[in-house]
Amino acid sequence: MTRSKRGSEEGRRLWCAGVAAWAAWVVVVGVAVVPALTAGQYGYGTYPDLPGSYCRLRHGRYGTCCPGRLDDCSMPIIGTLCYCDQFCNRTSNPDCCPDYWDVCLGLGPPSITQKVCNKDGIDILSGTSYTFNCNKCLCVNGRLSCEDDLCLVDEELMRQVNGNPRSYGWTASNYSMFWGRKASEGLVMKTGTLNPEALSMRMYPILLQPELDRIPSQFDARYKREWRGQISGVRDQGWCGASWAFSTLGVAQDRLAVASQGNESVDLSPQHLLSCDRRGQSGCKGGHVDRAWQYLRKVGVVNEGCFKYVSGNTGKVPECRIPRGGNMLTLRCAADEAVYKRRGLYRTEPAYRISGKEEDIQWEIMTNGPVQAMIKVQRDLFMYRRGVYAGTSLAPEQTASHSVRILGWGEETYGAGQPSKYWLVANSWGTEWGEEGLFRIRRGYNESGIETFVLAVRARLYDYDRRAGAGGRRIRHTLRHDKKEHHHSFYHTKRSH
Ligand SMILES: *[C@@H]1O[C@H](CO)[C@@H](O)[C@H](O)[C@H]1NC(C)=O
Ligand SMILES: *[C@@H]1O[C@H](CO)[C@@H](O)[C@H](O)[C@H]1NC(C)=O
Ligand SMILES: *[C@@H]1O[C@H](CO)[C@@H](O)[C@H](O)[C@H]1NC(C)=O
Ligand SMILES: *[C@@H]1O[C@H](CO)[C@@H](O)[C@H](O)[C@H]1NC(C)=O
Repeated sequence: MTRSKRGSEEGRRLWCAGVAAWAAWVVVVGVAVVPALTAGQYGYGTYPDLPGSYCRLRHGRYGTCCPGRLDDCSMPIIGTLCYCDQFCNRTSNPDCCPDYWDVCLGLGPPSITQKVCNKDGIDILSGTSYTFNCNKCLCVNGRLSCEDDLCLVDEELMRQVNGNPRSYGWTASNYSMFWGRKASEGLVMKTGTLNPEALSMRMYPILLQPELDRIPSQFDARYKREWRGQISGVRDQGWCGASWAFSTLGVAQDRLAVASQGNESVDLSPQHLLSCDRRGQSGCKGGHVDRAWQYLRKVGVVNEGCFKYVSGNTGKVPECRIPRGGNMLTLRCAADEAVYKRRGLYRTEPAYRISGKEEDIQWEIMTNGPVQAMIKVQRDLFMYRRGVYAGTSLAPEQTASHSVRILGWGEETYGAGQPSKYWLVANSWGTEWGEEGLFRIRRGYNESGIETFVLAVRARLYDYDRRAGAGGRRIRHTLRHDKKEHHHSFYHTKRSH
C-alpha cells in the first residue's frame, strides 16, 4: 500500500522522535480538546471498511498511540501496516489504522458516521470537496460527484506531444498560470478577437510588389538595424479577452516608432480602447479589430502611463475616463513617455489588408514593421513551450478567435528533415509563456488561419513643428503603396472620403 510514501519521510520522523517528549504532553492536552471538534475534520484512511482493534491493541514505548511521527508506531493490517501516530491527525491520510480516531483522539469510529470517497488515490471525506486540476469533486455520503470539464492544461495531451516532439515540431509545458483553469475560461479570457465584420472580411488586400530576391530567409523586426529598440515587447492581457486591443496597439506603436525613427517609442493604452471603444465591442469578452482601427483613426488613444491597464487583473472594464476631444496636455498624459510635448492623442491612418501570400506578408513586415494577424486558437496552444507550432489533432473540440503580432519569420531544420518554415509571432500572454512570450508557427500553410486576415497600418506622425508654430514643416512619410491604399482600407469601406 503506501509504505514507501512513509519511508521517504524517515528523516522527519527521526527529528520528530527527538521532540517526542514534548509532543507527548501535547497529546494529553490535545485529547481533551478533540471531542469538541467534529469528526469531519480528520482523514480516515483507506481502511474504513475494516473495523477492528489495531491501535487499541498496540503496546509500544509511548503507550497505545504515539506522538510525533514514528515509523514503528504501526500495526499489521491485511498484509501491510497501519499507523497510530499523531501524523494521522490531518485530512486525507491514506494509511492510518481504522480505530486511530476512536482510540487516539477519542472520536467516535468515523466509519459509522462518516463516509469517504476515493479518487486517484485521494481520500475525500463526506461533506468536503477536492479539486482535480480544473474539476471540483464533492463527496456526499460516500458518493462522489465531479465536474467533468476540459481543462486548459491537459496532462495526457502534454505527454503525447512531448513524447514525440519531432513529429509535432514543438514541445508542451505545464504552466502553473493555466493549471486549474477550465478550457472554456482560457478560450474566452486569454483570446478575445471577434471575427471582423463581413464588410471588412471582403476588403481587398492592397497590391504589393515584393522584390522576392530581397526577402531574406530569416527576419526579426526587433533586430533590423534601423529599428533597433523600436519594436515593442510582449505584453500580458491577463484574464481578460482583450487581444483585439493588444494586437492592434502593438502594431500601431511599433509602426509609430519605426515611422518616427524612434522619436516616438511609446506604449499605447489598451485600457483606453477597452474602456472607451465600446460600440459593438464586448470589452473583456472580445472585440473587433476593424472597429479598434476605426477608433484609432477617428479618436486615437493615450499612452499606457496615462490610462493603465487593470482589466487583466480584475476581468472588468472600468469607465472611460478620457473624454472625446481631450488632449494629452489637458489630460496630463505626456509625462515621461512621450518625447515631444504632444497634444493630440496617438492616431493612425486607416488600416489596410495584406493578402495571404507569404511574400506579401514578409515584404510588408520588412518594409514597414510588424503586422496584425487573426488566428484560431486550439487548446493545445496554451501548453506551447518552444518549437514550431502546428495545431495537433489532440485538442480539436473548440477554437477561439485571437489576434497576434507577426514580427518576422525563419526556418528551422531538425536533423536531416525538411526545414520547417515559420512565422515569428508575439502573443499577449506575458513573457513566461512560450519562447519569452513569442511563438513560432508553421508558415505557408495558413496554419490556424494565420494567413487569412492580415492587417497593417500607417501611424500618423504628430506634426509638432506646426503646432508649436515653428515654421510649419510637415513631417512627411510615404509608403510604396500610397496610391492604392484608400481603396483597401477601413477608411473607404466605412465612409466615402
Ligand atoms: C489534531 O489536529 C487538530 C486540528 O489541527 C488539533 O486542534 C488537535 O490538537 C490535534 N490533536 C492531537 C492529538 O494532536
Ligand atoms: C502540473 O502542475 C500542477 C501544479 O502546478 C501539478 O499539480 C501537476 O502534477 C503537474 N502535472 C504534470 C504532468 O507535471
Ligand atoms: C527625430 O528626431 C530628430 C531629432 O530631434 C529629428 O532630427 C528627426 O527629423 C526626427 N525624425 C522624425 C522622422 O520625426
Ligand atoms: C485559412 O484558414 C482559415 C481558418 O482555419 C479559413 O477560414 C480560411 O478560409 C483559410 N484560408 C485559405 C486561403 O485557405
